[in-house]
Amino acid sequence: MREKQQQELRQLLSDKAHSSRDLIHGLNVSQPTLSRLINSMKNEIVVMGKGRSTCYGLPRAIHDSNGRFPVYSIDPRGDATLYGNLTALQGGQYWWEGTDGNEELFSGQPWFLLDLQLSGFGARSFAYRRSELLKLPRKLADWSEDDMLYATSKCGEDRIGNLLVGEDSLSGYFKCAREMPPAIELDSCNWKYPQLAQKTLAGEMNSAQIGGEQPKFSACIDDKGTPCHMIVKFSPAVDSNEAQRYSDLLVCEHLALEAIRLSGFSSARSRLIIAGSQAFLALKRFDRRGALGRLPMISLRALHARLQAPYDNWIDAAIRLEQADLINREDSRRLRWFSLFSDLIGNTNQHFGNISLIPHKNNNCYLLAPLYGARPTLYEPVAGEIPIRLFTPPPVRNDAAAELPSALETAILFWKSAAVDERISADFRQICYENCELLKLSTHSPRLLV
Ligand SMILES: Nc1ncnc2c1ncn2[C@@H]1O[C@H](COP(=O)(O)OP(=O)(O)OP(=O)(O)O)[C@@H](O)[C@H]1O
Ligand SMILES: [Mg+2]
Repeated sequence: MREKQQQELRQLLSDKAHSSRDLIHGLNVSQPTLSRLINSMKNEIVVMGKGRSTCYGLPRAIHDSNGRFPVYSIDPRGDATLYGNLTALQGGQYWWEGTDGNEELFSGQPWFLLDLQLSGFGARSFAYRRSELLKLPRKLADWSEDDMLYATSKCGEDRIGNLLVGEDSLSGYFKCAREMPPAIELDSCNWKYPQLAQKTLAGEMNSAQIGGEQPKFSACIDDKGTPCHMIVKFSPAVDSNEAQRYSDLLVCEHLALEAIRLSGFSSARSRLIIAGSQAFLALKRFDRRGALGRLPMISLRALHARLQAPYDNWIDAAIRLEQADLINREDSRRLRWFSLFSDLIGNTNQHFGNISLIPHKNNNCYLLAPLYGARPTLYEPVAGEIPIRLFTPPPVRNDAAAELPSALETAILFWKSAAVDERISADFRQICYENCELLKLSTHSPRLLV
């Protein structure tokens, strides 16, 4: 009899976690019988919460793991502490037990772990190279949510932000810390970066850990005696029109970050190195401190998953987060400004991974991280060609109109600086000049007064 009931209970919990009320009803047993039954399966069943809200679930093995993953955070000194425990449950749910006392049953992977999933340029070659070892599909596009979590728990020692999942990632982090090569001297970046770019393309560098489509690696440089972690984006080393355009766009990203800063907004600090025909844009990481320290950060995408809100556009996102008291008024304004500025410099890449936030007050509110990743992607090569593009910034929405004068002035400054920067090809400088003139003309057009 007991075995039959255990089997029925397993059956019920195989779709999702249930409360004791649901189980009493589903199994048609009394509360004491259910308690005895659960007690007889206590090594198998996950008990979640306390009192009336207690729920029961069955853990779900993911590949060779038992579905239970410790999550660690690395502090600004480089020390690790347990942040919480994640248990994958049958039916695709997840049970989270934070060391801060927060517990929650999630219907999918918790939002604060979404940024740890592999994506972008490095992740595709990582999937190909490690697929055999991890016994996962060779193509990243064929990976399931479980595959992502599994890979993150095995090799997630150096993801963005300060969290890492799984014992293997933690030991990977300690190993990297012990075996960390000396920081690269500033003077040697000119010849070291091209070598590291080669190694990245050959799959010898661990470039999988940072997202984004532009080829990149991460490096620790010695900045006047202080180790400083950088993300280094690079253009192709070959001499072609396409490579030249990628190089032009990286120079533009550097100039855009400077223009943003001149307008009084904070943006990632960058250094540009041109070695032969190849451009390297090194960005100082705001989620790293010193050689080993890490700082928390979360993408706008993950925060929207938390709110179960659509990934619509940065202006609506700014308004939504301000209304939910998740960001302050000034940061909301800054995000609307950045959306307009991006439109005005042909940055078509306004997705929710291109904005990051810094959690504070126990994830109850956020500060906008320094702005990054803005370049005129409108002019990116497509399949090896450089198509002719028409630059027509979209009309300005009323709820962002107050930011227009400053965004426009900064965009003009950006195009003007690009039009005279000799690190940019003459062809693209001409485009920058024309766009500058176009925006100048628009300053004389009638506009909505606010
Ligand atoms: N300065 C920085 N400090 C910390 N993290 C950063 C910094 N700049 C970028 N990142 C992180 O790295 C990721 C990739 O950077 P970025 O978006 O600039 O790359 P990209 O290849 O140009 O991206 P995209 O595919 O959107 O064009 C970002 O989504 C962000 O999580
Ligand atoms: Mg990006």
